[in-house]
Amino acid sequence: MERFEGRVAVVTGAASGIGRALADRFAAEGMKVVLADVEQAPLDAAVQELRQHERDVIGVLADVRSAEAVEDLARRALDAYGAVHVVCNNAGVLAAGELSGDRCPAIWEQPLGDWQWTLDVNLWGVLHGIRSFVPIMLRQNDEGHIVNTGSVAGLMTGATLPAYSVSKHAVVRLSEALYFQLKELGVPVSASVLCPGGVDTGIYAAERNRPAEYARPGVAVPARAGGTGSPPAEIADHVFRAIRDDRFYILTHDVHEANVRMRMESILAGRNPDVAAGGP
Ligand SMILES: NC(=O)c1ccc[n+]([C@@H]2O[C@H](COP(=O)([O-])OP(=O)(O)OC[C@H]3O[C@@H](n4cnc5c(N)ncnc54)[C@H](O)[C@@H]3O)[C@@H](O)[C@H]2O)c1
Repeated sequence: MERFEGRVAVVTGAASGIGRALADRFAAEGMKVVLADVEQAPLDAAVQELRQHERDVIGVLADVRSAEAVEDLARRALDAYGAVHVVCNNAGVLAAGELSGDRCPAIWEQPLGDWQWTLDVNLWGVLHGIRSFVPIMLRQNDEGHIVNTGSVAGLMTGATLPAYSVSKHAVVRLSEALYFQLKELGVPVSASVLCPGGVDTGIYAAERNRPAEYARPGVAVPARAGGTGSPPAEIADHVFRAIRDDRFYILTHDVHEANVRMRMESILAGRNPDVAAGGP
């Protein structure tokens, strides 16, 4: 995308962490920004703060697990600004049960609620975003870009973070399919997948947003860990440059390269995964 000023960005999971940094960055580039999130208070605070800096933004309470809610988000964005040029399907969660203890949970023992919640937000949320926003962007016949938030966990192999990693592998492959389909159409709308390593955000306290229907008794919400990864603003900078340069894979950390390489080389050589080298 060449022009950002005056154009419209929609960011899900925009009340915190990477999504908030994306909203800040797009607004600083002169874009109108629709911030969407499931948490009302931090969403209101983000909108208020941005408006204090004279940014043109609105906040929409939207749960990306719901196709109707994401449809409504798209309608609200169009009502407010008349067009949508950048969409970041970014909202995501990490079940605390995947973090607790020294060992990751056994797949056959981990409660289904962890799997359902993680996939409903991390995978279905991205799919809903694609289904609601791509048709709008195609109708506009103008430049546009979709950024789906994956993770390095979506590229790596190993035993850890089972549900989270599965959801992120799916997001990477879904985004690849989207990229191919858009290029085959020859339209000026493109796509990227964001695959960060550790970022200093609220993700380790994601349990704050777990709806009761996926109840997981006995798992405490971990306190928000501070300063344990890159600043979110750095990730937003990578994303902005990738949209500008039409770069698909947005890798922001190189620390896990050995794992990804081992995975790919094992697949191509028909070798079993190297278990000793498989951890993050
Ligand atoms: N922090 C990291 O180290 C890291 C690394 C790789 C990828 N990611 C990914 O980055 C994305 C953003 O996470 P973050 O690290 O900024 O965490 P965060 O918890 O700071 O932000 C996530 C936001 O998503 C919102 N959210 C949760 N469920 C939602 C739902 N159903 N509908 C709408 N919004 C919802 C939360 O309220 C929160 O504001 C996620 O997809 C995450 O998996 C994070």
